[in-house]
Amino acid sequence: MSTILVTGGSGVLGSLVVPLLSDAGHDVRVLSRRPGAGTHTGDLATGAGVDEATDGTDVIVHCASDTRHFGRQDVEQTRTLVEAAAGSAEHIVYISIVGIDSIPLYYYVRKLACEGVIATSGIPYTIFRATQFHQLIEYLLNGVRRLPVAPLPLDFRFQPVAAREAAARLAELVEAGPAGGRAPDMGGPEVHTLSELAATWQAAGLPPRKIVRLPVPGRVGDAFRRGLNTCPDLATGVETWAEFVASRQ
Ligand SMILES: NC(=O)c1ccc[n+]([C@@H]2O[C@H](COP(=O)([O-])OP(=O)(O)OC[C@H]3O[C@@H](n4cnc5c(N)ncnc54)[C@H](OP(=O)(O)O)[C@@H]3O)[C@@H](O)[C@H]2O)c1
Repeated sequence: MSTILVTGGSGVLGSLVVPLLSDAGHDVRVLSRRPGAGTHTGDLATGAGVDEATDGTDVIVHCASDTRHFGRQDVEQTRTLVEAAAGSAEHIVYISIVGIDSIPLYYYVRKLACEGVIATSGIPYTIFRATQFHQLIEYLLNGVRRLPVAPLPLDFRFQPVAAREAAARLAELVEAGPAGGRAPDMGGPEVHTLSELAATWQAAGLPPRKIVRLPVPGRVGDAFRRGLNTCPDLATGVETWAEFVASRQ
């Protein structure tokens, strides 16, 4: 049994990892800024509570990210975490995103820098990159659901994966011990354009009713159109987007 701290254990991915690690018999801690949402209240932005949360931990699963603000402070926050954990942690597992080194999106540039912080922390580590979760595509579609005509980058490609399956892989990587680098990437079973994903969503009767193509110029748009965020050779996820949508109805 290990003592494991899951940062972001209250988020979409982390909340699915926590029960898997608990069921495997580990003593699991969850860091959250919101009192009561985790076992430990703390904030990686200020450092408050982080020493207490990391003290005596064997393993850290780092899922926390300022996703609402494109990871604005993620690099500093990851540094705060590894500095606090340096004395005790024997393994840090970091969740990252497929293709971040090929797509100059602000959030991805910061994720890549976080990978660097982890790799040079001196703590044995594993970096695991996954493709976009089904929930992220759902978030995109829900974000425009009230618009009479919803603009979306319909020609972007995605290979959405079930967050539950990425969580299961993360739990396996904890048990496997430090990889000393990147574990194999993980993608969902199918690559689709956003147009195709939206059509499946709409066919299930879900809004928005009318979507038009939002042109996204530049290198970021080009990268998503080319599917540099996908890994079709590592399509180890099982649940399809259509199955996820059916579960949401
Ligand atoms: N979503 C995707 O499609 C996808 C795909 C591949 C990889 N990933 C990666 O997976 C990770 C988790 O993503 P997610 O979608 O599960 O994110 P999420 O639901 O937005 O959760 C973010 C988590 O980070 C915590 N957090 C944020 N700022 C914090 C701070 N200053 N101090 C402490 N905790 C903080 C939040 O905790 P509180 O709000 O409770 O404090 C929350 O639990 C991210 O690193 C993301 O890049 C996501």
